[in-house]
Amino acid sequence: MTFTGKVVLVTGANRGIGKALVEEALDRGAARVYAGTRQPLTHADQRVTALTLDVTDAAQIHAAVEEVESLDILINNAGIALYDDLSDPSVLERHLAVNLFGPYAVTQAFLPKLTQAQGAIVNNVSLMALAPLPFTPAYAISKAAAFNWTQSMRALLAGQGVRVHAVLTGPTDTDMTRGFEIPKATPQSVARAVFDGVENREDDIFPDPMSATLAESWRSGAVKALERESAALVAA
Ligand SMILES: NC(=O)c1ccc[n+]([C@@H]2O[C@H](COP(=O)([O-])OP(=O)(O)OC[C@H]3O[C@@H](n4cnc5c(N)ncnc54)[C@H](OP(=O)(O)O)[C@@H]3O)[C@@H](O)[C@H]2O)c1
Repeated sequence: MTFTGKVVLVTGANRGIGKALVEEALDRGAARVYAGTRQPLTHADQRVTALTLDVTDAAQIHAAVEEVESLDILINNAGIALYDDLSDPSVLERHLAVNLFGPYAVTQAFLPKLTQAQGAIVNNVSLMALAPLPFTPAYAISKAAAFNWTQSMRALLAGQGVRVHAVLTGPTDTDMTRGFEIPKATPQSVARAVFDGVENREDDIFPDPMSATLAESWRSGAVKALERESAALVAA
């Protein structure tokens, strides 16, 4: 899988990692990049088409599907992260709405086009899918759910020729981590590593120095082996 000549859609494309993913797709020769944003967006490169796309808005998702003629790679990147202590269920609901049901709805809507293209789905999850940072537990729950959904989609779509990747992103220097004084990767380096991971057909992509420390043990570990065994039941 390379990005040359491909049609790519990135959600949450106006800032942070999403913006860097758009630039990386262009650098790698994508033919068209749909930039999904909630606010109007302009881009100097003629290959970029702005798409109004709040991932929680069913009508906008429907309109986006109508506008996009074909799609090779869907990158579910849009997300929110709020501080909480799990005392308010509405905070958990907001995270699940954007970080789980959002990418779920966008993916289901674009699935016929992705299947037609024998394409790929890339879900920007988080290292917190594996272990929560208890300052943002609702966020971590939503990302754990999104990762588990990604694993099921991988198994369910394998027979249809659609690859499904999880990105287990660690701390990255964006608005989302403002105020956290810890070492952070640049969004550009994360975007490069995401695209390298897709090109190398890695199921689970660890795109920054902190997450990369887990890659080898994750890939050779008992949990990954169980995922593969369970996925084989679908194939059978
Ligand atoms: N930064 C990190 O350290 C880190 C680590 C692990 C995972 N991630 C994941 O990486 C992804 C991108 O995060 P980031 O760091 O780039 O964050 P960011 O700078 O805060 O950007 C978040 C993006 O998501 C968009 N968004 C939020 N709610 C949306 C909705 N309902 N519909 C459509 N778009 C929506 C935002 O659009 P608006 O501008 O309209 O708000 C913005 O474009 C997220 O899924 C995040 O969980 C980030």
